[in-house]
Amino acid sequence: GKVAVLFGGSSAEREVSLMSGRAVLAALQEAGVDAHAFDPAERDLYALKEEGYDRVFIALHGRGGEDGTVQGALELMGIPYTGSGVMASALAMDKWRTKMVWLAAGLPTPRYAILDAGSDWGAVVRDLGLPIFVKPAHEGSSMGATKVTEAGGLRAAWELAARYDSLVIAEEFITGEELTAPFLEDRPLPLVRIVAPDGNYDYQNKYFTDDTRYDCPCGLPAAQEAMLQALAMQSARVLGCRGWGRADLILTDDGRPYLLEMNTAPGMTAHSLVPMSARVAGLGFGELCLKILEGARL
Ligand code: DAL
Ligand code: MG
Repeated sequence: GKVAVLFGGSSAEREVSLMSGRAVLAALQEAGVDAHAFDPAERDLYALKEEGYDRVFIALHGRGGEDGTVQGALELMGIPYTGSGVMASALAMDKWRTKMVWLAAGLPTPRYAILDAGSDWGAVVRDLGLPIFVKPAHEGSSMGATKVTEAGGLRAAWELAARYDSLVIAEEFITGEELTAPFLEDRPLPLVRIVAPDGNYDYQNKYFTDDTRYDCPCGLPAAQEAMLQALAMQSARVLGCRGWGRADLILTDDGRPYLLEMNTAPGMTAHSLVPMSARVAGLGFGELCLKILEGARL
């Protein structure tokens, strides 16, 4: 039957979603799937039902797509969709509540504080140390995020993040290797190590420069990689994720892992990490898209 690839949308990550969605659409069509583009920013989502789509591939990032809202509408329309359901999508989009669930489950994540106009900036710096990462709680792709290296910069970082979101989180900066752990159904995929210029894996270095180096295989001893994959699977399980996703983490030099966040509709662009990892596992981009689509459900 007909498959709609949802991409575009109206979140701050629209441009990234356009790149992901175009790549997914082309791959599915190439594989013989009757797939069509559908941008919820341009069309009423409920047209999916009238137009007889019987499955949806969600390639939307950020709010209004990755956050459970579109998933809820698809549930009501009775159209199976890829990736996590309503609850896990909403939870994973919220960095604060994700951390609270992980902490309750005994999983490691950097210490944090919630910032607002009345925050005691000095106390936050004393508590978390420097540098501090400040980010909007419901964004992806480093939108509105700042690495604060001196106490005087904290307020400005909060102001920037607050333009994106009413909930802003400050996180202690963990020094170590930046890794990401994709998964497909119940199977972990190989870890990817990210080595960004000056350790700065920001929006530019994520999608537009070729200065970021990605290692996959990641170069860690097999037992350590397996341990981190197990941690990533557990981090997904406690959030209720399904289908596919990607946990981002940091590994300190003395071998301690910290979970940063969960992505329930990860990037599928030419620079993206899940396709890179899948390729190392023997799954080309087209096969990966088909596998994700096979997992579509209600
Ligand atoms: N939020 C972007 C799309 C990612 O995690 O890949
Ligand atoms: Mg993210």
